[in-house]
Amino acid sequence: MFRRERIEYKTGAQVAKMRAAGLVVAAVHDAVREATRAGVTTAELDAVAAATIAEHGAVSSFLGYHGYPATICVSVNEEIVHGIPGDRVIRSGDVVSIDAGAIVAGWHGDAAFTMVVDPQDPADLALSEATENAMWAGLVALATKQHLGAVGDAVEDVVDASPVPFGIVQDYVGHGIGRAMHQPPEVLNYRTRENGARIKPGLCVAVEPMLTRGSAATRVLEDDWTVVTQDGSRAAHWEHTVAIGPEGIWVLTSPDGGEAALAARGVTIAPWTE
Ligand code: MF3
Ligand code: CO
Repeated sequence: MFRRERIEYKTGAQVAKMRAAGLVVAAVHDAVREATRAGVTTAELDAVAAATIAEHGAVSSFLGYHGYPATICVSVNEEIVHGIPGDRVIRSGDVVSIDAGAIVAGWHGDAAFTMVVDPQDPADLALSEATENAMWAGLVALATKQHLGAVGDAVEDVVDASPVPFGIVQDYVGHGIGRAMHQPPEVLNYRTRENGARIKPGLCVAVEPMLTRGSAATRVLEDDWTVVTQDGSRAAHWEHTVAIGPEGIWVLTSPDGGEAALAARGVTIAPWTE
């Protein structure tokens, strides 16, 4: 949908503002992770997120977005993305995906993680770990390759190398981000015949693979938001917002800028603010 539209390349000063938004998103993740346990409702998690965003003087990217009614998305078990917080009570063993976005001084950050509530089914843990690995592999591709299509190749490589099969959701994709949460280009999580846009300094994108333990086919619930797997299999979702600078990649929504996870994969980060 974005493919032929213009990409907004950012300056270092603009990336610095996006870093501020990214750190608010990271703080929201910490607070919600801490609050997520059996017995809590998803609305309570939303309230934790709203309080954290307010404490930082920021604004939710999601609240009011195309009428979205909450601060974050909380997607449980067979829910893949865009779960609306409400009365649902988190239970032992649930797979919980938290997606949050924040705006600081007009600039957006967007990131998601999945956690498995104790006692964890090892198969659910493997699902979340594979999805997180797929995300980092996509970020390594952004740091080391020439074209955006390399992200989808990297995600597929991770899934292909897995001893257990996973579905790669194709109906939802990553995106450019900046003065709006969703900008061109689309960032696909699967291999295509096209190279995609050139990866060059100023490119800011959110990379967000979604994997399932079954089929990748999706369906939207009656609430017009919640996306679930058609086969009821459990899903995971990991996302970071990153900037490509003249010297390399910077993971704006990670407190350490992605330093540790990328070093483990042979990539040195390159913070860039001017
Ligand atoms: N954060 C989601 C994304 O990664 C979008 C959330 S949709 C909203 O693109 F309506 F909840 F905002
Ligand atoms: Co996103």
